[in-house]
Amino acid sequence: MNKSAKGFVREVSLPQIHDPRGDLTFVEGGNHIPFEIRRVYYLYNVPVDSERGGHAHRELEQVVFALSGSFRMRIDDGTTKSDYWLRDPRKGLYISKMIWREMDAFSQGAVCMVLASHRYDEADYFRNYDDFRAEVESHQA
Ligand code: TYD
Repeated sequence: MNKSAKGFVREVSLPQIHDPRGDLTFVEGGNHIPFEIRRVYYLYNVPVDSERGGHAHRELEQVVFALSGSFRMRIDDGTTKSDYWLRDPRKGLYISKMIWREMDAFSQGAVCMVLASHRYDEADYFRNYDDFRAEVESHQA
C-alpha cells in the first residue's frame, strides 16, 4: 500500500482466524486501533457512481475498512495527494486529523466501516477545501 502521505495515513492490519466455515476478524480497543474508539459508523447501499467524503477534520482520527467490496480513498494532507484502494476487510486505513479525504469508485454492494476517535461533531469538519488549505498553511508558516 502506498504510504506517501507523510505518515499521516497508514495501514492497520487485523488478525484473521481462517476457517472453512468462514473467516473471522476482530478489532480490540486499546490493541489494534491507535485511539479510543468512541463511534462506529458504516456506509452501505452506496450507488457505484457515488462520491462521498469531501472534508477534513480538526481533531477526528479514523480507521476505515472495506468490510465488503471495494472503493477508493483519495487522501490529501494539504501538500501531498495519494490514492488508496480498500478491498480487504482485514486491512484498514488509519487517517489522522487534518487530512482531506474523498471516496469514490464503490463496487456494487460495498460496505465501508469507520472506527472514529470522537462522537459526531459538525464543528470538527472542514467542508471547504480552501479553508482546510489555509489552516494547513498557517501551521507551515
Ligand atoms: P458525512 O460525514 O459528510 O458523510 P461522508 O463523509 O460519508 O460523505 O456525513 C453525512 C451526513 O451524516 C451529515 O449530515 C452528517 C451525518 N452524520 C451523523 O449524523 N453522524 C455521523 O456519525 C456521521 C459520520 C455523519
